[in-house]
Amino acid sequence: MGHDRLARLMARGAGFLGCETAILGGAMSWISERHLVSALSNAGAFGVIACGAMTPDLLDAEIAGTKALTDRPFGVNLITMHPQLSELIDVCAKHGVSHVVLAGGLPPPGAIERIKGNGARLICFAPALALAKKLIRSGVDALVIEGMEAGGHIGPVSTSVLAQEILPPLAHEVPIFVAGGIGHGGAIAGYLEMGAAGVQLGTRFVCAHECIAHPNFKKAFIRASARDAVTSVQIDPRLPVIPVRALKNREMESFAAKQREVAQLLDEEKVEMAEAQLQIEHYWAGALRRAVIDGDVETGSVMAGQSVGMVKEEASVADILGQLTDEAAHALERRSA
Ligand SMILES: Cc1cc2nc3c(=O)[nH]c(=O)nc-3n(C[C@H](O)[C@H](O)[C@H](O)COP(=O)(O)O)c2cc1C
Repeated sequence: MGHDRLARLMARGAGFLGCETAILGGAMSWISERHLVSALSNAGAFGVIACGAMTPDLLDAEIAGTKALTDRPFGVNLITMHPQLSELIDVCAKHGVSHVVLAGGLPPPGAIERIKGNGARLICFAPALALAKKLIRSGVDALVIEGMEAGGHIGPVSTSVLAQEILPPLAHEVPIFVAGGIGHGGAIAGYLEMGAAGVQLGTRFVCAHECIAHPNFKKAFIRASARDAVTSVQIDPRLPVIPVRALKNREMESFAAKQREVAQLLDEEKVEMAEAQLQIEHYWAGALRRAVIDGDVETGSVMAGQSVGMVKEEASVADILGQLTDEAAHALERRSA
């Protein structure tokens, strides 16, 4: 009974994504590549490739590689500040990618029209109610609302507050997927009952067998508790940096030094603000790569959400999804009893 109710509540989101279970595997740079993405889609959820700092050629190869592993739909996440965004959109069009997720701020002029003109469905992140309304008016097909409990780059507001502010007025207009801090299916049930079309999880999928993250990265996740996933600190008010949530380690100190270095370049007028922010993003991409790929979890960035405390062991994607949907179904059954 709980599973039937869950399927009904997920029907709109699943229909929009073209999958069975309205759970997106949130794109994670270096992590959400062909293996994890195809495993998620093959298990009935929806995988999303993280383009991150990839060149158009690398994205081309990653999409082709993913298609070789699954014939189910999957998405591609592009970062709006990528200097070759336009070419990356072309690569998605060439492959007929069905869903494009734009992250990292409001889409630049023309991007929405081009992505939709190519026949793809466009999903954007809405960090506040006013921006959610603006994005819907601009023609985006669906929204992700991601709270500050999430891993990686985060906004200032919690998931529970965003959900209360944005779902009641807007859930009937476009499908809205809730992200950030979800580690147990009971929370999925709650957001669905509030009107969400589905959810997006990142942290919970890092310790999947199919995920290529280095064993040290996975071990750090399994050992950590919620309070270990802390946010980076902005040390210079002139240099606005988007906070990042990651496990506490030595890397957090290196980030302070990097900010001082870039702030000095700004002071000396050696770089413009846009270039300064790009340098910070390149720093993160490199630091995350060191941890995810090389396994250096001390001087690399172990980006993780607060739900890391609910990651207890390695398991297959199918088992993780099975656990989440069973928990959601049980919660729904209990509530209707
Ligand atoms: C290691 C890591 C890397 C991430 N990289 C990206 C990224 O490249 N682009 C993006 O839009 N979101 C990124 N995210 C956010 C996820 O897509 C997702 O929204 C988030 O993990 C959801 O919250 P949760 O971690 O609490 O499940 C990242 C998250 C993590 C943990």
